[in-house]
Amino acid sequence: MDKIIIQGGVPLSGSIEASGAKNAALPLLAAAILVDGPVTYRRIPHLRDISTMMTLLAWQGADVEYDDQHCLHVDTRPASKSEAPYELVKTMRASSLVLGPLLARFGQARVSLPGGCAIGARPIDMHLKGLEAMGASIEVEQGDIVARAAKGLSGAIISFDQVTVTGTENLMMAAVLAKGTTVLDNAAREPEIVNLAESLRGLGADIEGDGTNRIVIQGVERLEAGEMTTIADRIETATYLAAGLITGGDVTVTNVDPYALEAFLARVKDTGALVECGPDFVRCKAQGRLKAVDIHTLPHPGFPTDLQAQFMAMMTLAEGTSVVRETIFENRFMHVQELARMGADISLDGNTAVVHGCARISGAPVMATDLRASASLVLAGLAAEGETTVSRVYHIDRGYERIEEKLGKLGARIERHSISENWMKGAQLNA
Ligand code: EPU
Repeated sequence: MDKIIIQGGVPLSGSIEASGAKNAALPLLAAAILVDGPVTYRRIPHLRDISTMMTLLAWQGADVEYDDQHCLHVDTRPASKSEAPYELVKTMRASSLVLGPLLARFGQARVSLPGGCAIGARPIDMHLKGLEAMGASIEVEQGDIVARAAKGLSGAIISFDQVTVTGTENLMMAAVLAKGTTVLDNAAREPEIVNLAESLRGLGADIEGDGTNRIVIQGVERLEAGEMTTIADRIETATYLAAGLITGGDVTVTNVDPYALEAFLARVKDTGALVECGPDFVRCKAQGRLKAVDIHTLPHPGFPTDLQAQFMAMMTLAEGTSVVRETIFENRFMHVQELARMGADISLDGNTAVVHGCARISGAPVMATDLRASASLVLAGLAAEGETTVSRVYHIDRGYERIEEKLGKLGARIERHSISENWMKGAQLNA
């Protein structure tokens, strides 16, 4: 298992380019199941979750081919299996994104039920209720969701009880080939939803209202071969901007849409840092010690839960006390105990963390527990005095492409140590 080792205390500066967004690329790849022909994908990040989705599509019988590191070709016409087995689903909850497309294409689907995960129970009941409203019958058999719609799916009016990102994506994909009109009310408005809708429209889908909380989909006969391009990763972008800020540095991220980062950048401005945006770049520069700022997470356009841990890391060194409230997931404070091991002063009460900013934190061995919690530990390590070792970095590799390389480019003293490398070194010593 790899470890990341950081010598902290270097202010980061410079410019890096954002990768394609994991959470946009995953639904785009699942949408290939709906397409009657090959799809060329651009700006696909090289990440573990993406490889899992590619493995799943290939397992179903699709042709999946990498052109270069970020361009992919997928043709699901040869696919014959309408299943997603436990072995793949258990490593990536987003595998459930194939449920809607498989049902739309094959009239049946068997997808292993994802279990709970480190950040909360994360049920998919709203996805299932929506598919039932569209005419599917759903049963759970031996841990799998078995969905059937022998006569095909029909349009329906679906109102989500709570905003769900992958739920909106799953039902949007199911509705694209359904008979009639589907209305999704209280739909998610994340930029990744708009990316999916725009991409599907490019292949012939009839979708309106994406980016608002009411999406209307008119079913079409088929989707044609074409191209899909992933948007920039707004969470990755903000994580690197936070790395600059927590170290008192000056970081620019290019090839991004600043509007997708509005809630985060507004809070960064409140810390007293300089924020500069161009048509496709964002720069954040610390101007002295950051001031404490409160945040509470909300669906887009609110402050993203996927940046809560990173913002909290910044607040551990801010001047004053900040209150961080998590309203999306019930257990997304796993980083708090690890940050405390580095000297952070944080008290927890239910879904609220109170962070008393301290003048310094110190390096320590810490353990990654989920993707964004891990990112917060890397940020803390960059700002801490001395050495920080982050273990279980496979969590980070699910969502950050070449993190040590990108941070290294900004001046960080960061290295990845892999067990195999150490084993090789040991073997050489013994030889
Ligand atoms: N929920 C239900 N029932 C459902 C669906 C959701 O109760 O049927 C609840 C969830 O348990 C949660 C809330 O609704 O409390 C919102 O969950 P949502 O469905 O929006 O989350 P998701 O679609 O499973 C995506 C991202 C997450 C991100 C959330 C919130 C992908 C692949 N994942 O998850 O990303 O945190 O939206 O923005 O898009 C990450 O990248 O680290 C990550 C966890």
